[in-house]
Formats: sequence, structure tokens, C-alpha cells
Amino acid sequence: MTALATTVTETLRYRGKVGQWAWVLHRLTGLGVIVFLILHVVDTSWAAFYPSDYEQAIREYQSPLFTIGEFFLVASVVFHALNGLRIVTLDYKPEWWRYQERATLLVFALTLLVLVPTFAVMLDHTVAFYTSDRDIATLDEIVQTQSLFVMGFVVILVVALALSGLYGLVTRSSQGVKLSGGWEATLWTYMRVSGVLILPLVFGHLVLMHILQGVFDIAGVPELEVVGTNAINQSGTAVEFVGARWNALLAGVAVWRIYDGLLLALAAIHGFNGLRYIVNDYARSVWVNRALNWAIFFGVIALIVVGAAALIAGADETAYKLATDMLSSVQ
Ligand code: HEM
Ligand code: HEM
Repeated sequence: MTALATTVTETLRYRGKVGQWAWVLHRLTGLGVIVFLILHVVDTSWAAFYPSDYEQAIREYQSPLFTIGEFFLVASVVFHALNGLRIVTLDYKPEWWRYQERATLLVFALTLLVLVPTFAVMLDHTVAFYTSDRDIATLDEIVQTQSLFVMGFVVILVVALALSGLYGLVTRSSQGVKLSGGWEATLWTYMRVSGVLILPLVFGHLVLMHILQGVFDIAGVPELEVVGTNAINQSGTAVEFVGARWNALLAGVAVWRIYDGLLLALAAIHGFNGLRYIVNDYARSVWVNRALNWAIFFGVIALIVVGAAALIAGADETAYKLATDMLSSVQ
């Protein structure tokens, strides 16, 4: 953990270079987005497996606390994507390295340029929601649900640390987790290729969920046409919103299931491998490093399995009914 302390103190001490701040922000935004993605994929799977819980999750996403988080999330995705593009371009065009500083300033400027109109539209949705008499989740409800996630993370950490300790005792191994050079090179390329592929997918997803319709339209608005489909959300539940999108067919193909599946696989592997870079930079103790690497490895598999299972299962009339019952019980 001294490495983490050094990063913090040296970043603050080392003044003047905009590239240093871009590096720190790239790391922080990547970390923020992967934490969100974990919660988001688990939540979304509830539309298929626990419809009432999904309805509750969306109620919470519509609360002021999450609305503020949503603005940070969008800002993080936009900065991380544009800065990622800069990194990829300069990695493959070393002759442009002398423009590093200008390229970084351009990334900050473009981030602002994208965020100003995006935030204006999001603010419009937000004001319309809070000035209507819609029902809003209380802080108590939020703490109750979200503390389950915190407990989940703690349990995973404790189990990983215990197993890593046991492994160390049995094998007397003093080795952390180290991938072969070939694997590291493949993952380095994967980070770049996947970043470029994720960019249009995640921006498309955010345009649908923040600009064309907002998180506030996902639930609580009956008879609304569901974005990207010809379906009408009859019940106005979040579960029917997701069900309608996943069931929409274009020339017989479930386009949104394929779209979400691609985004899931690309972003989960990219994000968890990014998390691995961060862990390997700061967790120097062999015991902790091995535990965190194992948690990352099994975490990415579990997340992709859960997300894919929900995409395959989908949501139907029975799920819409459970969600409607839940909404009427809290309103
Ligand atoms: C607050 C912002 C967001 C909202 C409101 C939102 C909303 C949704 C909704 C309603 C779905 C259900 C399926 C669908 O309608 O297509 C979904 C699925 C999904 N979203 Fe988002 N999304 C947000 C941000 C993101 C971001 C930033 C990412 C990527 C980093 C992402 C990745 C995914 C993935 C991978 C799925 C599929 C999950 C599964 O397979 O179960 N979302 N999102
Ligand atoms: C939107 C398009 C994206 C692009 C163009 C992009 C690009 C990149 C690039 C080039 C790197 C550096 C890799 C390296 O140093 O070898 C990186 C790191 C990272 N990315 Fe992304 N990325 C994108 C989306 C995402 C998403 C959706 C997540 C989370 C799910 C994410 C999480 C991370 C993390 C945690 C790191 C590690 C940061 C570090 O080592 O400091 N990225 N990204």
C-alpha cells in the first residue's frame, strides 16, 4: 500500500504536467465505471430473475443520490473514452509523441464540448421528473439495498483472502499471480482493441438511456414507446421496459440482446483487466495480491455468466405482473 501513498503524494507534488492528471483521471474514471458496471449488470439481471427487486433498483436510480452519481458516471465514461482513444492513437503512432501535451489538452476540451449539451439534456429530464409528483425512493430504502452490495463485496474479499492464505500455507509459495509475457502482450492489445469497440457501443447505450429517454422514463411512465423498439410499455414498469427491448426483433434478430451481450463481454473483460493493472500496481503483499487477482478472475467470469443468463432468460408477462404488484405496493 506504500505504492498507493506514493502515487497520491507524488501526483500532488508533481505540478504542471497535464499528462499526469490525465493518467490519474483515466485510472479513477476506469475504476468508477467498472464498480458501476458490476452493480448495473447484477441489477439488470433481476429484470429476468427477481422482477420486484429490479423495480426497486430503478426506483433507487431515480433518487437524487443516484441522479448525482449518474452525472459523474456520464462524465467518467466520456473522459475515459476520449482519453483512451488518445492513448491508443499515440501507442500506434509514436511519430506523434511530440504532440502529447496538445493531444491531452484536446481531450479535456472535447470532454467539455460533449458534456455541456449532454448535461443540459440530462438536466432537462431531471427537472421534469422532480417537478412532477412522482414517487421517489427514500434514503432508508437505498441504504438497505446498497448495503447488501457492500456486504457482497466484503464477503468476496474475505473469502479470497482466506483462500489465498490457505494456499500460501499449504504450498509455501511466495509467488504472487504473474501472467506470462505472451498473455500480458495479448491483454495489452485487447485493452486497445476492446476500448475502440466499446466506444460506439457505450455511447449508443448512453444516448438511448440519457438523451432520447432518461433513466426517469425506464419506469413510472405507462403507455410510453420504449426507446429503440416499436413496443409500448403498457404497465410502465422497468421490467417491461427491459423485456420489450430484449424481445424486440429486427428482421427476426434480437438486436438489443446481441448489442447488450457484446457490450457486456467487451466492457467486463476490459474493466476487470484494468482493475488487475491497478491491483498489481498497489497490492505488493503476495497474500493480498494473489487474493485480489483470484477475485478479479472469478469475478469477471461470474459477471459475464449472470449477465448472459439474464439476456437469454429475458422477461415476460409474469415478470411484468410481479413488477406491477411491487410498484403498487410502494405507491
Ligand atoms: C445510468 C446509466 C445507465 C442506464 C440508465 C442504463 C440502462 C440500462 C438498461 C435499462 C439496460 C437493460 C437492457 C436494455 O434496455 O438494453 C441496460 C443493460 C446493460 N447496460 Fe446499461 N445503462 C447505463 C449505463 C451503462 C454503462 C456506462 C455501461 C457500460 C460500462 C452499461 C452496460 C450495460 C450492459 C453490459 C447491459 C446488459 C446487462 C445484461 O446482460 O444483463 N450501461 N442498461
Ligand atoms: C469507452 C471506450 C473505452 C476506451 C477507448 C478505453 C481505453 C482504455 C485504454 C487505452 C486503457 C489503458 C490500457 C493500458 O494501460 O494498457 C484503459 C484502461 C482502463 N479502462 Fe478503459 N476504455 C474504455 C472503456 C472502459 C470501460 C467501459 C471501463 C469499465 C468497465 C474501463 C475501465 C478501465 C480501467 C479500470 C482501466 C485501467 C486504468 C489504469 O490502469 O490506470 N474502460 N482504457
